[in-house]
Amino acid sequence: MSNSVPNAVVVRVPGKVNLQLSVGPKESDGFHGLVTVFQAISLFDDVSISRSDIGAGITLAISGDQSYGVPTDETNLAFKASEIMCATYDLPTDFRIEIKKAIPVAGGMAGGSADAAATILALDHLFALGLSRDEMHAVASKIGSDVPFLLGGGTAVGRGRGDEVTSALSRGTYHWVLALSSNGLSTPAVYNEIDRLRDGMDVAQPHANEHLLQALLTADAVAVGKALSNDLQPATCSLRPALRLILDVGSEYGALGCIVSGSGPTVAFLVADEEQGLDLAVALTSSGVIGTVTRASGPVPGARVIEVR
Ligand code: C5P
Repeated sequence: MSNSVPNAVVVRVPGKVNLQLSVGPKESDGFHGLVTVFQAISLFDDVSISRSDIGAGITLAISGDQSYGVPTDETNLAFKASEIMCATYDLPTDFRIEIKKAIPVAGGMAGGSADAAATILALDHLFALGLSRDEMHAVASKIGSDVPFLLGGGTAVGRGRGDEVTSALSRGTYHWVLALSSNGLSTPAVYNEIDRLRDGMDVAQPHANEHLLQALLTADAVAVGKALSNDLQPATCSLRPALRLILDVGSEYGALGCIVSGSGPTVAFLVADEEQGLDLAVALTSSGVIGTVTRASGPVPGARVIEVR
């Protein structure tokens, strides 16, 4: 990379699935204590940030397969990330953000959070800030619970709100088939639903699943499939009962594990290899219960600069 100041930086950032998502009781701040195991997977958004003329302000444009329904105003998490970066590091506020989306919108795969993580890294490069990982994490955790993980990617355990991230050892490559829904689910609505379903119950503090972590360490995909768990799944299925049918089709076709991803409604099927993935994708498409099916693998690295110009 040259020493000259760049005009534009492009960052590629992955989506994620949660291999474990254990949700504790609602805390006084309105959030739930979590223990989650994240895996970054090979569905990527590309976020490009280029300098604009003085006075142009911050502008945002969206394109790509999954652009429908993505906000282009200040509610977009990339916009929020750029506002926090500008305020924290006193940056000029004249640049254009262009997001090419392949991560499903409101699908439980952290697409909006991924774009925020990419924005932090892109601005760090565009303005040659030289921020440390810790400094970028501090900005990321102000934006949302999944943003810090997507800076590093790979496999990691998230605690607290999900934003206290420790990387986890994982061997091997895991193959996923993803059943996408055309309408997203609101994350707060899913957390409200789990509170409703748990009303009057004693909810234990969550713990990391040692069987899952051991299976990841030994590249045992069968054991990983058995250990997949998501406490939000009953809430997502309650709000979207059709998800149960999709989960059933995956089990019938011999997936190693089936899970709603994060707060849904994307359903993720772990399969043994690419061939089984292709077979399952065909079976899901022909079952008629799903709109779009895609495939991905993980773990993959988090946000990274792919172009500077
Ligand atoms: O942090 P994030 O923006 O992803 O959170 C969206 C919403 O999900 C929060 O406003 C909250 O309602 C819920 N949430 C929660 N506990 C968490 C993470 C998210 O209740 N640990």
